[in-house]
Amino acid sequence: MSVLVDALRPEDVERCAELEQVLFPGDDPWSADAFRSELASPHNHYVAARDDDGRLIGYAGLARLGTGVHPESEVHTIGVDPGLRQRGIGGALLGELLRVADAWGGPVFLEVRTDNDAAIALYRREGFEIVGTRKRYYQPSGADAYTMCRPDRREEPRP
Ligand SMILES: CC(C)(COP(=O)(O)OP(=O)(O)OC[C@H]1O[C@@H](n2cnc3c(N)ncnc32)[C@H](O)[C@@H]1OP(=O)(O)O)[C@@H](O)C(=O)NCCC(=O)NCCS
Repeated sequence: MSVLVDALRPEDVERCAELEQVLFPGDDPWSADAFRSELASPHNHYVAARDDDGRLIGYAGLARLGTGVHPESEVHTIGVDPGLRQRGIGGALLGELLRVADAWGGPVFLEVRTDNDAAIALYRREGFEIVGTRKRYYQPSGADAYTMCRPDRREEPRP
């Protein structure tokens, strides 16, 4: 199976909401309307992963925050169809978000459940480090979150 990564579109939101129910049960999964509103924001960048038949098999979104002088970004969501994990799809989606975040400039932040080993490993692989813990961040589950940050690539010392 080949995977295409392109823009998430308004016609994808129902499928996103369907996947959310499976990926984030107990953590207030996003509705189709929530995705519509995310897509409508000019400060957000959303990407989709599609299979050979064009079916949506993953999605991810980034928000631009901060000011023009001190920009920063936040990964809002990322998810891959449970039947298609560990094939590089999540990495490809995150890689596309980070390419855009680096073009905007500034550090990239995100929250992740402290028990989400797969996502934490993915984020670490892409240069994120844990910078804090937010107690009972997820509702209604009450699960804790780590805040992770990937520093501004422009501030890294040159080799
Ligand atoms: C996190 C998630 C998006 C990863 O998607 P994926 O397509 O399986 O990821 P990839 O195949 O691209 O894997 C990339 C890296 O993630 C890490 N990873 C992925 N699944 C893992 C697992 N089950 N255990 C440990 N590490 C894992 C590895 O570091 C892997 O790199 P490697 O292949 O070089 O070892 C996917 O597990 C998912 O949708 N989870 C549910 C939704 C979710 O929790 N989203 C994050 C919210 S903060």
